[in-house]
Amino acid sequence: MPCDVCVLCMLLSPLQTMLCPTSPHLVNCSGQGLSVVPLALPRNTGILLLSTNRLASVSTASFQHLPELAELDLSGNVLGVLHTVAPLLLLQELILSHNALEVLPTLQGLPALTRLTLAHNNISELLPGAFRDVGKLTELNLRGNQLRTLPEEAFEGLAGLKDLDLSDNALEELPQGLLAGLELNTLWLSGNQLRTLPSGFFPEGHMFAYVYLAGNPWRCDCGLAYLQEWIVDNVISIYIQEQKSDGLLTQNDPQSPVCDSPLRHHGKAGDTDLDIDGTMTEEGTPVPSTTVPSTTLPPTTPVPPTTAP
Ligand SMILES: *[C@@H]1O[C@H](CO)[C@@H](O)[C@H](O)[C@H]1NC(C)=O
Ligand SMILES: *[C@@H]1O[C@H](CO)[C@@H](O)[C@H](O)[C@H]1NC(C)=O
Repeated sequence: MPCDVCVLCMLLSPLQTMLCPTSPHLVNCSGQGLSVVPLALPRNTGILLLSTNRLASVSTASFQHLPELAELDLSGNVLGVLHTVAPLLLLQELILSHNALEVLPTLQGLPALTRLTLAHNNISELLPGAFRDVGKLTELNLRGNQLRTLPEEAFEGLAGLKDLDLSDNALEELPQGLLAGLELNTLWLSGNQLRTLPSGFFPEGHMFAYVYLAGNPWRCDCGLAYLQEWIVDNVISIYIQEQKSDGLLTQNDPQSPVCDSPLRHHGKAGDTDLDIDGTMTEEGTPVPSTTVPSTTLPPTTPVPPTTAP
């Protein structure tokens, strides 16, 4: 077997090491040029890395002999199909980023799944209740797909979802009730084609820790009044993330959502009102200073989530 069997318990304390035979193993089969899932994997495999291979189609049936499997990394393959009919009862984390999925796989038989990463695939549509079978999800990453719109019930049933990443898609509009029933800490909508958000889009009274709205062509006319008002009430939650030479920089920036249109016509009544609070600004125009200073946080500094009274 070409794969590296790396025993996690080597890193544990001597006492824990005595328990070693029963602790789950990390098996690293990344970058081996595999086009099929290897058969001879240790029965107590807990974490299985199969990233950067040539897998085009995978079935959860291939992992039925691994009853302790908790994390499965299939990123960086050429997956067009994932069959999940055979159950993986303990699987908590499934990484499917950088593949060629055009539709969401069916997600039956994964009752313990909490983290699902589908970033950088070719998914263009989600059906209502798409994640109904994986109701324990806390993190869902759909970054970098081809989503243009979403049904109102796309995330129905995900009461425990904390982190939803819809950035870098082609979203042009979102339904009013999309976030109903969710209690997110973090919402990524950056890098889409959004011009506005419907009134009542953000659940009343819910405070987010991080909301990313930059990189959309916001249309600053009366239709944006709801979002502008929401931003004013939630300045501490509006964040931007940028790639700097020394890594990713995450910082509070309530001015990060900027207007794309209409262009400002000086003297035309109404237009200037949109900039009064300085939270929606036009690209290229001087930015009025905001009353809330932007705080620069190192990328790893967690900000405690805040909850509305
Ligand atoms: C897994 O193996 C690949 C290729 O040998 C290596 O680049 C990677 O660092 C390994 N990952 C872990 C977590 O050991
Ligand atoms: C995604 O779809 C586009 C257009 O349909 C295609 O050109 C591209 O190769 C696809 N990407 C992958 C990773 O399959």
